[in-house]
Amino acid sequence: SAAEKGGWSSFMAKEISEEPEAVAKTILGRVDDRGTVTIPELDGLDELFLDIDRIVVIACGTASYAGAVGKYAIEKWAKVPVDVELSHEFRYREPVITPRTLVISISQSGETMDTLMAVKFARESGARTVSICNTQGATIPRESDAVVYTHAGPEVAVASTKAFVAQITALYLLALHVARVRGALSAEVIAEQAAELQAIPDKIAAVLENNDTIEQLAHWMADTRAVLFLGRHVGFPIAMEGALKLKELAYIHAEGFAAGELKHGPIALIEPGQPVFVVVPSPRGAQTIHSKVVSNIEEIRARGARIIAIAEEGDVAVLPSADEVIRIPLAGPLFEPLLSVVPLQVFAMALASAKGLDVDQPRNLAKSVTVE
Ligand code: G6P
Repeated sequence: SAAEKGGWSSFMAKEISEEPEAVAKTILGRVDDRGTVTIPELDGLDELFLDIDRIVVIACGTASYAGAVGKYAIEKWAKVPVDVELSHEFRYREPVITPRTLVISISQSGETMDTLMAVKFARESGARTVSICNTQGATIPRESDAVVYTHAGPEVAVASTKAFVAQITALYLLALHVARVRGALSAEVIAEQAAELQAIPDKIAAVLENNDTIEQLAHWMADTRAVLFLGRHVGFPIAMEGALKLKELAYIHAEGFAAGELKHGPIALIEPGQPVFVVVPSPRGAQTIHSKVVSNIEEIRARGARIIAIAEEGDVAVLPSADEVIRIPLAGPLFEPLLSVVPLQVFAMALASAKGLDVDQPRNLAKSVTVE
């Protein structure tokens, strides 16, 4: 009902507006005054975290892209190798699982049958299991050794938004927790990264205050037939998620690519007028990847692509070749996904609205898929 939407045009619009809170509440009680990251739910599992030699993240849909972002943080901070797999692919291979394998499942609902079956299979195969879930007491957490809840609050719109940023937050906290237990990072570095995470809610709020350009763009692009998304490093899963949102909500053919892969195939798709969103890494991060993505932009611009760059404040290198630049505040390189995904969510929502579609209940989709 209109009252439940609290004055917003849709649940999705309301839920996007709740993203700063979703991140803040997920951090709450897990970082102390000295910047030590301790997830109370994982109390007693230190030995497990010391013993593991590999992590497999399993999930479906948007949650799988949160997992793909989490891989970069877990490997960098906790220094444990991570594979990210779709639950249904993992379950029906013959994956190598040992008692030293930790399987982390991610599910907003905690009821996705594909993920539930994969968790059960992992346990039966001898793996240890931790779930990241947004729904208290759901089935997947009950089937797992431990659960780290995201505190995004109930998510009603079929397309996941605030749960996604909460899932990345939980994965980053988990990565820092494991890094502490394993002695993989100094207390000082953990505190620095925790502070970066704590600064994210205000930065998302700042992104949300600047939605005019992206909404306008969505209106202009209401007739678009195909949209490409490019990203690199943690921006790659964000490109995938941007494309998924556009498919789900606006029924537009959309693909996300790793920017480095462009020359190996996708560049053949570029023709005059083709819209391409580019999630641009920070020029303050690994310099080389920033300049490589800027070169990608120049290459496709030369072939007539229409470029919409999602770039950090002050990044002037994107200006000569981008048709539009959507700005996000400065954040540590690993934290950019929590900001860059927001305009992509808003774009898909605004474009679907411009087409007169129901953004909360896209055709053919269910919020929680409880069949295999
Ligand atoms: C469905 C929804 C997606 C969601 C996926 C995983 O397909 O339409 O939005 O990302 O399930 O859901 P879960 O509850 O496991 O995160």
